[in-house]
Amino acid sequence: MNTDLVSYYKDRAKEYEKIYAKPERQKDLKAATRILQEIFTEKQVLEIACGTGFWTEKIAVTANSILATDINQSVIDIARKKDFWDKQVSFEIADIYNFPVQDKFESLFGGFIWSHILLQDLDKFLSTVNSLVSPGATVVFIDNNYVESSNHPITEIDEHGNSFQTRKLEDNTTHLVLKNFPSETFLRNKLKDISDDITFFNLPYYWILCYTTP
Ligand SMILES: C[S@@+](CC[C@H](N)C(=O)[O-])C[C@H]1O[C@@H](n2cnc3c(N)ncnc32)[C@H](O)[C@@H]1O
Repeated sequence: MNTDLVSYYKDRAKEYEKIYAKPERQKDLKAATRILQEIFTEKQVLEIACGTGFWTEKIAVTANSILATDINQSVIDIARKKDFWDKQVSFEIADIYNFPVQDKFESLFGGFIWSHILLQDLDKFLSTVNSLVSPGATVVFIDNNYVESSNHPITEIDEHGNSFQTRKLEDNTTHLVLKNFPSETFLRNKLKDISDDITFFNLPYYWILCYTTP
């Protein structure tokens, strides 16, 4: 069984957006789109782990510009083909943990990446994220709430409390995928020494965390 997250998403690229067609999630997807479009209005956005650009396309409606990045070429190839309303949207291959040096951004967005960070790596992840933006920047993450029957069941929990799902791709390969489902309390606690300006939106299927960097 494959346990490598990066190669899992490389191979899942073509079928990835089926996840956004789940009927029970449509109402939340619309609500999340409205929230994100409002937050990023007229912002210059750095997007990490952009995948196939599902949210890039939505945020581009109101943002001024987006640099969308991901570690996998296969997802960026799909993202590039989307419609960005003549906005300044560019793409780059980049590993979150080895980001090419550039000017600091005034906002950052990460969709469905928090859940794929090991609990023991979250502090490093957050300090990396915060190093990419300027003081007073807006940082936003969206991710899944666990809803039985809509999410893959959790098949393993390791000694740190990380949870894993066993997933199959259309090529019949099987993957053990890290997927954590943090509570609002956990998220607020993680950020308590980083920001005193935190907003949390809780939808049935998704949560959105928004904070201002010091
Ligand atoms: C669950 S997908 C989310 C895609 C997109 N943000 C969305 O919400 O539809 C996670 C993405 O993280 C990317 N990824 C995984 N590890 C990464 C890393 N170290 N640096 C950058 N991207 C990474 C994968 O290639 C994949 O596209």
